[in-house]
Amino acid sequence: MMVWRVFKLLICALFILCLACFSNGFAPKDMYLVDCGSPTDTQVGNRIYVSDNSTSKYLSTPRDILASTNSNNITSYDDSPLYKTARIFNGTSSYKFSITQTGRIWIRLYFFPFVYDNFNMDSASFSVSTQKNVLLGNFTPEAKNPTVKEFLLNVTSGNLLITFAPSSNSFAYLNALEVVSAPDSLIPDDASTFSPIGAFVGLVNNALETVERVNMGGPLVSFENDTLWRTWVNDQAFLRTPSSAVTNKSLIGAVTYPAGGATEDIAPRTVYGTCTEMNSSGDPHSTFNVTWEFNVDLGFQYMLRLHFCDIVSDSANQLAFNIYINSFNVAPDFEPSSEIYGGLATAFYMEYVTPIATNNRLRVSIGPSAKSAYPDAFLNGLEIMKLNNSLGSLSAAVSEPLSFGKGPKKNVGMIVGLSIGVPLALLMVVIVFLMHRRRKQERLGHSKTWIPISINGGTSHTMGSKYSNGTTISTASNLSYRIPFTAVLEATNDFDESGVIGIGGFGKVYKGVLNDGTKIAVKRGNPRSQQGLAEFRTEIEMLSQFRHRHLVSLIGYCDEKNEMILIYEYMENGTVKSHLYGSDLPSLNWKQRLEICIGAARGLHYLHTGSSKAIIHRDVKSANILLDENFLAKVADFGLSKSGPEVDQTHVSTAVKGSFGYLDPEYFRRQQLTEKSDVYSFGVVLLEVLCARPVIDPSLPREMVNLAEWAMKWQKKGQLEQIIDSNLVGKIRPDSLRKYGETAEKCLADFGVDRPSMGDVLWNLEYALQLQEAVIQNDPEENSTNVIGELSPQVNNFNHTDDTPSVVEMSRMDDDLSGISMSRVFSQLVKSEGR
Ligand SMILES: *[C@@H]1O[C@H](CO)[C@@H](O)[C@H](O)[C@H]1NC(C)=O
Ligand SMILES: *[C@@H]1O[C@H](CO)[C@@H](O)[C@H](O)[C@H]1NC(C)=O
Ligand SMILES: *[C@@H]1O[C@H](CO)[C@@H](O)[C@H](O)[C@H]1NC(C)=O
Ligand SMILES: *[C@@H]1O[C@H](CO)[C@@H](O)[C@H](O)[C@H]1NC(C)=O
Ligand SMILES: *[C@@H]1O[C@H](CO)[C@@H](O)[C@H](O)[C@H]1NC(C)=O
Ligand SMILES: *[C@@H]1O[C@H](CO)[C@@H](O)[C@H](O)[C@H]1NC(C)=O
Ligand SMILES: *[C@@H]1O[C@H](CO)[C@@H](O)[C@H](O)[C@H]1NC(C)=O
Ligand SMILES: *[C@@H]1O[C@H](CO)[C@@H](O)[C@H](O)[C@H]1NC(C)=O
Ligand SMILES: *[C@@H]1O[C@H](CO)[C@@H](O)[C@H](O)[C@H]1NC(C)=O
Repeated sequence: MMVWRVFKLLICALFILCLACFSNGFAPKDMYLVDCGSPTDTQVGNRIYVSDNSTSKYLSTPRDILASTNSNNITSYDDSPLYKTARIFNGTSSYKFSITQTGRIWIRLYFFPFVYDNFNMDSASFSVSTQKNVLLGNFTPEAKNPTVKEFLLNVTSGNLLITFAPSSNSFAYLNALEVVSAPDSLIPDDASTFSPIGAFVGLVNNALETVERVNMGGPLVSFENDTLWRTWVNDQAFLRTPSSAVTNKSLIGAVTYPAGGATEDIAPRTVYGTCTEMNSSGDPHSTFNVTWEFNVDLGFQYMLRLHFCDIVSDSANQLAFNIYINSFNVAPDFEPSSEIYGGLATAFYMEYVTPIATNNRLRVSIGPSAKSAYPDAFLNGLEIMKLNNSLGSLSAAVSEPLSFGKGPKKNVGMIVGLSIGVPLALLMVVIVFLMHRRRKQERLGHSKTWIPISINGGTSHTMGSKYSNGTTISTASNLSYRIPFTAVLEATNDFDESGVIGIGGFGKVYKGVLNDGTKIAVKRGNPRSQQGLAEFRTEIEMLSQFRHRHLVSLIGYCDEKNEMILIYEYMENGTVKSHLYGSDLPSLNWKQRLEICIGAARGLHYLHTGSSKAIIHRDVKSANILLDENFLAKVADFGLSKSGPEVDQTHVSTAVKGSFGYLDPEYFRRQQLTEKSDVYSFGVVLLEVLCARPVIDPSLPREMVNLAEWAMKWQKKGQLEQIIDSNLVGKIRPDSLRKYGETAEKCLADFGVDRPSMGDVLWNLEYALQLQEAVIQNDPEENSTNVIGELSPQVNNFNHTDDTPSVVEMSRMDDDLSGISMSRVFSQLVKSEGR
C-alpha cells in the first residue's frame, strides 16, 4: 500500500550546532591515507598516502605479495599518482584501522582499472564491507574512468575493518583508501534535527554513501578547496533542459555563514556563492521548472541536502518558489531570503529523506510560485546520500547480511601488490577527480513510476497560517508540518504555565494562538526518552497520513533543540471524560452522548479500514476522545498506534500497552493485537459514557471497581438502566438503551472474533440514535445480533447530517480496490470529508 516514507524537512539554519566542531579547519582525530600496491609512500598535494607494503600494519591478510611491475598498458588515466598502483586481492582480505574517536568517519575508496599480468581489472567483481555495513556488493568499477566511492559511517567500535571479498572466480582491487574522521554534527543525530516522519529511526545509525555532490552554477570544487576534502561537481550534466537555466550570478565574497547555522564545513563559499537560476529572460509570464536528474538504485532511501543562499534577489522577501523532489512539492512557496533563513546572501540548507526509490531516476526541480513578485527560482548546491537498507547494506546485490569477522581465509588469500612506474616527478601533480564521470551505467530494468499520493489530498486541506517572519505553515502537505521553535514560543507565550490545559504521561499540553488567530493545542514532550521519541514519531506519522473529520488534526510539530512538540487543532470542549465525571461541566444529554460515540466510532472505523493495512489505535479511552466547539468528537493520541496485521497474518504480536481498565483481556493474555482490541476498549468507553463513572474506581465496593465487569453483570440481567448516570434516568428511550447496551456487550466479548467490527458498532449506535429520535416507528428487531442486515433496506432513509460517505459505500470500495488506487479513493473520500 502507500507505505511511502514521508519526506522530512529540516531547516538547519535554525539548528544550533556545536560551533566548536564546526569551526573552520575541522581537525580529524583519525586519518589514514593509504596508497595501495605502492612500494613507497606517495605525496598528493600536502597529504602523504602511506604504502601498504609488507611492513604495513593496516593490511591484515596473508603476506603473499607479488612483485610489482611497470606497465604501459594504461591508455588513459586520471592525473593522480594514486591511480598508478593498485593492490589485487585474490581472496578475502581486510584493512584494519584503530579508531580513537568513534562517530562519523569518511571512507573513500579509489578505483581505476588497468591490466596487470593475468588480471584484467575491468573484469574484477567484489564486495566491500565493514563490520556493520556492506558498502559495495558484486561491484565492478567503471572501466576507463577513475571512480571514487565515498561513505560516511558511524563507527562505534575501536577498530574499523574494511573487508574485500572477491566474487566467485573473480578478484578485488583497490588503488587508494582514505579513512578520516568527520564532524559528528555533519549528519544530524535524529534527536535534534532529524525527525523522520517515515519509518526509519534516526540517521545516526545509518551508513551513507555519497551519490552526487553538486555545486549548482559553480565550478568544480576539488578537495583542496573543501574543509572536509569533499569534491563538488558542476550541475550542467544533470540538467534536463540546459536552456531552462542560467548561471551567471556569482557572489562568493558576500556569503554570510550565520551563527549557529551553516558553516564552511557544511559547504564551502564557492558552493553558496554561485547558483543555477531559472532562465526567465525577463519574461514575467515564465512558467517552467528547472529540473536536475540523478541515477539512484531501486529499493533505497536517499537523503537530499539542498543548499541555499539568496544571491539572486535585490531585497529580502521578494522571491518565492516551489521545490519539488520527484513530483512532490516539498516546499511550497518557499521564501529563501525571508528572515527565518537570515535574509539575503545567508547560507542555509534543508534536508529531505525520500521514500524508498521505485524509479531509478531521482528528479529535483525548482519552479516559480504564484506568490512571487516575479518568476524566478534558484539552487546553490545539492548533496544526495544513499541510506543503507534494512539489512545495513548499501548495495542491492546483497540480500543477506554478510557474516562478518571471520577474517581472511589463509589458503585462498593471495595478494598481488603492484605498482606501475611511479615517476616521482608526477607526485606533485594537481589531482582532479572527475567524480561526475562516475555516474552509473544506465539501467535497463523497467520500474514502476512512483506516484506519491497524499492521503490528505493536496490542496483541499490547505489551512495555511502565516508567520510574521514569512514562513507559511500549510497543512496541505505533510512535508511542511515543521514549525519553528520561535513560533511555538510566540504562540504559547513562552510556555506560560497559565496556559496549561492538560498534563499527561507524554508531558504538558498548552493552549496557544498562532499569529493568524488559529487556536492550537501544543503538546510538549518531556525531555527525550526513547519511549517518548518513538511515540512522537508514530503520532506524526499517523496523523500526517490519516486525516479525517473525526480524527484530531495535526497542524505541525517541532523537533528543534531536542524538543518534541506536537501542535494540534485546538479542541474547545476538551475530553469526553471531563464531561462525564470529575468536573463541574454541565452534563451531556443522551443524544449528545450518542452523537459523540458515533463520531468516535467513525474515526476508529476509518483508522481500521481507511487504508489497506488497518491501523490499530491501542489506547482508546474517554480521555483520548476530544470535543470541538460543536461537540464534534475526534479521536486523539496516536502515540501507541500500530499498523495492523499484514494480509497473511491474523494479528500483530507486540508488548502490551494501553490504559488500565480499557485493555482487551485477550490482547493481555495472548499479546496479540487486532482491531478488535480497539473494539473492546471502545465498549468500555460506551459504558463509561452511559454510567458516567471511572472505568476503574478502587474506592468502590469490590464488585463495582471494574466498570466493564460491573456493567456487564447488569446488562446480562437485562437491568442496565439500574446503573446509568443519574442525569440520564428517565431520559433514554428503552429501545435505544437496549440497543446501546447490546452493542457494548458485544464489544466486550471475551474473544475478538466474537466482537463486531467498528463498522458494525457504528451502525448499531446510529440505530440506537434513531430509536431515541423515534425516526423508526416500528421497532424492526428484538434480539438481533446483526442490525446491518436488517436495516440495509432502510439505508437510504437515514438522514446523513454530514457528507460522510456511508459505511456501506466505504466497504464496497474496500472490496473493489486495493493498493495505490485505494489510497487515491481514500484521498477523495478524505477530501470530501475533511471540510
Ligand atoms: C614499505 O613502505 C615504507 C613506507 O611506508 C617504507 O619505509 C619501507 O621501506 C617499505 N618497505 C618495503 C619492504 O618496501
Ligand atoms: C599488458 O596487457 C597485456 C594483455 O592485455 C598483458 O599480457 C601484459 O602482461 C600487460 N603488460 C604489463 C606490463 O602488465
Ligand atoms: C553513532 O551511533 C551510536 C549508537 O547507535 C549513537 O549513540 C551515536 O550518537 C552515533 N553517533 C553519530 C555521530 O551519529
Ligand atoms: C581553489 O579555489 C581557488 C579560488 O576559488 C582557485 O583559484 C583554485 O584553483 C582552487 N584550487 C583547486 C585545486 O581547485
Ligand atoms: C534563456 O532563454 C532564452 C529564451 O528562451 C534563450 O534564448 C537563451 O539561450 C537561454 N539562455 C541559456 C543560457 O540557455
Ligand atoms: C544573466 O542572464 C540574464 C538573462 O539570461 C541577462 O539578462 C543578464 O544580463 C546576465 N547577467 C550577466 C552578469 O551576465
Ligand atoms: C514543475 O514540476 C512539478 C513536479 O513534477 C509539476 O507538478 C509542476 O506542474 C511543474 N511546473 C511547471 C510549471 O511545469
Ligand atoms: C540502516 O542500518 C541500520 C542498522 O545498521 C538500521 O537500524 C537502519 O534502519 C537502516 N536504515 C534503513 C533506512 O533501513
Ligand atoms: C587466485 O587464487 C586461486 C586459488 O588460490 C587460484 O586458483 C587462481 O589461479 C588465482 N588466480 C590468479 C589469477 O592468480
